Amino acid sequence: MSLQTLEARDDNRRPPASELLEIVQRGLRAEPKQLPSWLFYDERGSQLFERICEQPEYYLTRAEIALMDTHAAEIAAVLGPDVRLVEYGSGNAIKTRLLLEHLASPVSYVPVEIASASLQASVQRLAAQFPTLPLQPLHTDFTRALRLPIPPRAPRRTILYFPGSTIGNFEQRDAVQLLRKMREEMGDAGGILVGADLKKDAATIEAAYNDRAGVTVDFTLNMLTRLNRELGSDFKLDTFRHRAHYNVLAGRIETHIVSTCAQKVRVGRMQANFAEGEAMLVEYSCKYSPSDFKALAAKAGLEVARVWFDPDVLFSVQYLVRKGQSSLL
Ligand code: AVI
Repeated sequence: MSLQTLEARDDNRRPPASELLEIVQRGLRAEPKQLPSWLFYDERGSQLFERICEQPEYYLTRAEIALMDTHAAEIAAVLGPDVRLVEYGSGNAIKTRLLLEHLASPVSYVPVEIASASLQASVQRLAAQFPTLPLQPLHTDFTRALRLPIPPRAPRRTILYFPGSTIGNFEQRDAVQLLRKMREEMGDAGGILVGADLKKDAATIEAAYNDRAGVTVDFTLNMLTRLNRELGSDFKLDTFRHRAHYNVLAGRIETHIVSTCAQKVRVGRMQANFAEGEAMLVEYSCKYSPSDFKALAAKAGLEVARVWFDPDVLFSVQYLVRKGQSSLL
């Protein structure tokens, strides 16, 4: 396949610097302070996240790969032939490959990704592995309404694949909204295949977000480095620390950046005051029991047609269809 055919359609509407400044200033004015977790993913942040996935404490990626290793053939059989596979995020090569290897005559693969380097890399990798599979990359933010490329032939169903527990980074209300948007995009006969991390003992979950090598600390604080670079702010990195705590009642990891002293930070024309010990929320990583996820799906007009677990029952992959459709499978 030539590089030209691999060129992504560019629907990128990444916020310009002025909008970024506004988002960050609004977050710093809020009480308590809060910044969105997508700010983690500049180039270095994406690399650090890949390293997190390799840490012994971060069980999520290994569990999801083990799950796909065990169940990909069955998942593919449930999805059926002639599927158009749309992936939210550029995808971990192993998980996507495991699924594609088992799909019968897939119509096309559409990776949706805002980071163009990751998108290109994943497309090139897959083009080499699946030379006959039509690839239709879409360079955009998957939280926006997607204009999917016209498929090369009519698919039997469109499957939106959202692996990796990223749904857990959305607050409940936003997760429902995202699932509703996906429900529209997949159409009547379509489905959503989504990875969700399971509730389990607090120590295991907390360790995953506090690895001993300190990669997660670097990942979290890299957000401030990014803001200093892109907005000219003056966060002093050695005066902030990472804190990730599992809130058992809410069923989520809450990651904060904590100021170790009373200080002022300049962000554009704004001065943000931090008290000693003041914590700024930067990420939720929500964990779901199977019944929690069923309730979440129901709020978006979806039902869980099937659910698969890894052998250690740490992680789940859920297959969602429109309410009333699962009996037709
Ligand atoms: C991308 N997302 C699913 C990761 C998670 O587990 O919430 C991001 C992450 N944050 C800290 N470690 C990993």
